[in-house]
Parts: sequence; C-alpha cells; structure tokens
Amino acid sequence: MTRRKNQKLSVEDHKRVRGALVSFLKPESLKLYVGKMDGEVKEHLEMHWHGKPQVEMKIVCIAFFFNEEVLTEDEIVHNVMLIMVAGHDTSSVLMTFIMRLLANEPAVYAAVLQEQEEMAKTKLSGEFLTWEDLTKMKYTWRVAMETLRMVPPAFGGFRKALKDIEYGGYLIPKGWQAIPMTHMDGSIFLEPSKFGLSRFENQTSIPPYSFVAFGAGPRICPGYEFARIKTLVTIHYLVTQFAWKLCTDNFFSRDPMPIPTQGLPIKLVPRKLC
Ligand code: HEM
Repeated sequence: MTRRKNQKLSVEDHKRVRGALVSFLKPESLKLYVGKMDGEVKEHLEMHWHGKPQVEMKIVCIAFFFNEEVLTEDEIVHNVMLIMVAGHDTSSVLMTFIMRLLANEPAVYAAVLQEQEEMAKTKLSGEFLTWEDLTKMKYTWRVAMETLRMVPPAFGGFRKALKDIEYGGYLIPKGWQAIPMTHMDGSIFLEPSKFGLSRFENQTSIPPYSFVAFGAGPRICPGYEFARIKTLVTIHYLVTQFAWKLCTDNFFSRDPMPIPTQGLPIKLVPRKLC
C-alpha cells in the first residue's frame, strides 16, 4: 500500500483513500459539526471583525478523523494537506465573490438578509445553527451556486480521453486531456453572462455534467457538503451582523483561481449602526 513520492494512486488506491475522506465528509458525519463551525465563525467575527479597521477571512477547520487501519501514515499526512489546500482556496474564493456580489447587488443582499434574519428570529440567544436550519437557507445557497457558476474557483479537473471522441464537430484524440467549459454555454444556461438565481430553483432541470463547480463523476468534490455548511454559517453571521461597501473597483484575474486584482478591501458597518 505504500507508494513512492509523486507516484500516482492506482484506481483501487484512489477508491480506498477517497472512501476514507468521504467517511467523515458525508452528511451524517458533518451534521455533528454544524454547531462547532457556528461557534468558530461567531468567535472569529467577535475577535477579528468587530471594531477592526481591517479584516481577514479565516476558514473554519474541524478535526479530521482518518482511520490508520485504512490509510498509511504517509497517506494521512498527504490527505490532511490535500484537504487544507482543496478546501481553503476554493472556499475563500467563493466567500470573496459572494461578498463582492452582495455589495454590488442591494436587492440580493436584502433578500439574503431577510432569509437570515427570519432564521435568526427562530433561535434563542447563543443557540447554534443546526443542519436542519441550513437546509432552509434555500435563497442564500442559490446565491452561492450562481456565484460558483459565474466565477468557479476551479473548473472540474482535466479528463483524459480513453479513445478518440468526436464532440461538437471536433476530434479529441485518444490520450488528449480536456476540461469542461459549460457554465457560459447559452444552450445550457440561458443568457449565461447574466446573474440569474432562478437557474437553481429546480436543480434537476440542469443537465448532468453541466454545473461543474464541484467537478463531476467519480472524482466529484467530496467536500461539497462541508463547503455548503461553512459558506451558509459564515454568510448567516456576516449579513446579520454587518453591512459593507467595496473600497475599490473590483476587477479580477485568474491565476489560475479568480482573484480580485486589488484584493477585496471593504468598509464594514456593524448592523446595529446601519
Ligand atoms: C466552494 C468550495 C469548493 C469548491 C468549488 C471545490 C471544487 C472542487 C473541484 C472542481 C474538484 C475537482 C473535481 C473533479 O475532478 O471532478 C475538487 C476536488 C476535491 N475537493 Fe473540493 N471544492 C470545494 C471545497 C472543498 C472542501 C471544503 C474540501 C474538504 C474539506 C474539498 C476537498 C476536495 C478533495 C479531497 C478533492 C479531490 C477528490 C478526488 O480527487 O477524488 N473541497 N473540489
């Protein structure tokens, strides 16, 4: 089961390692950690955002429970690093672009705020959000999905053609690698350059392998639910505690992830003062 540095995992080893990751990234396991993430986000905002002129995003982490009987020690170290990188950069790009969107689109901000304030009203002071609460944040999650469609942190990875394939009048020869670019295809997403939340009202209407912000197929991102929890919990506390304005024109470039060229400096106003 051991392998040399930089050696690729075989299909069987990938299944085994992925199985170990999924065992604690599946909803049944993550449900137990929503309160923990809630506490982390609240504490972070309290310590690092309230009353501070500058802010820095912190991505919430939980303990990862790898089973040593399934993975070697090397594999555990490698996968902890993988999760940190795969989970950190993607999520921070998503949060950055949601904050940019909410600053630029007051109507969307107002609707997200309404949904989150209604949720807040159902909670006692200091009570943590739960998995069930997150399932009710439908509008807010649609905002996140449409942000991911328009500015995906990463496109689903390259796939190698196992045989010659003809697609759209082009030949992809066996052995070539291809990457799906479907999010801006007008035949799948009508008027693709327009922000449109109705696209995600009925997710089953989106053809398979078309929305690929989390990839697709056997290597689809196993951190989808984890990303959903931390995004929703973070937005809940951000919008119920703050309003904000962008301090610069906010253009971005890809390197390879989409990054605002001047960062995303914002002026925060605690909602009590709005
Ligand atoms: C907004 C957040 C995230 C986005 C947009 C995202 C996106 C992606 C994409 C596009 C892939 C490649 C999938 C493919 O090749 O089909 C991927 C793989 C992966 N992601 Fe995520 N991800 C996010 C969050 C996370 C989080 C929070 C974790 C862990 C806690 C995570 C762990 C992984 C791992 C381990 C893989 C490799 C899976 C494999 O090769 O079998 N991701 N992610």
